Amino acid sequence: MKGTVIITGGSRGLGKELVNLFLKDGWKVSTFSRHETRDVRYVEPSLLKLRADLRLEADVERVISETKKLLGQPSLLVLNAGTVSKATMVIEENIMNLRADCEVNLIANTFLLQEFLRKCSPGNVVHITSDVASSPYPGWGFYGASKRAMDYILETLRLENPGKLFLSIDPGDMDTEMHRTADPGADTGSLAKPRDAALKVYRRIMDVIR
Ligand SMILES: NC(=O)c1ccc[n+]([C@@H]2O[C@H](COP(=O)([O-])OP(=O)(O)OC[C@H]3O[C@@H](n4cnc5c(N)ncnc54)[C@H](OP(=O)(O)O)[C@@H]3O)[C@@H](O)[C@H]2O)c1
Repeated sequence: MKGTVIITGGSRGLGKELVNLFLKDGWKVSTFSRHETRDVRYVEPSLLKLRADLRLEADVERVISETKKLLGQPSLLVLNAGTVSKATMVIEENIMNLRADCEVNLIANTFLLQEFLRKCSPGNVVHITSDVASSPYPGWGFYGASKRAMDYILETLRLENPGKLFLSIDPGDMDTEMHRTADPGADTGSLAKPRDAALKVYRRIMDVIR
């Protein structure tokens, strides 16, 4: 058994594939999203699925406590859950979309990160970032700003906590619900399958934590 990992947003897309890969490799996996069918589902000894909203502090606290109780102390947190709106030029975009992106991708992620570091020491953290966080692209300004800000938090934590892992990984463009929301007209044939992207992300994490 490799240890316990919390992966946010395991109901679909990249998160779902990461959950499968970690489980297959012998990890205990705790995951959550807003649309799990039941409140708490303890499917098998190694997998805990919770219905929880990352934006709600009480839900985040429950995720940490249920994970510790049922799967043991997690040693790794993968911040995968994220949100985006349809790609729109900054001058035209509704400011509410920046609030929504920052609420999930930055503020909620940061609260979970704080709780994890306070309650699950020693813990390693991986943030699933995006190429637009480092290279601005027309239409992706709000989302990119929220992802870049989260990368900045990790960079700061790295300086504040030498010896601990704070890693941002860009999975590349994938054919997922998120991408279809942001860019409904995209040629999906040119996008990676989430399973292939997850394998690359998983290997990168294993290279670093081994
Ligand atoms: N798709 C791409 O091309 C691409 C490219 C670069 C980076 N990324 C990054 O990769 C990560 C995964 O993206 P994806 O494409 O797999 O997205 P996705 O298919 O839309 O999946 C997002 C996951 O996050 C969960 N989630 C969203 N808001 C949540 C909330 N408030 N509380 C709990 N769970 C929440 C969703 O579940 P519920 O809706 O049920 O809550 C779902 O499980 C994201 O961080 C994204 O920024 C994606």
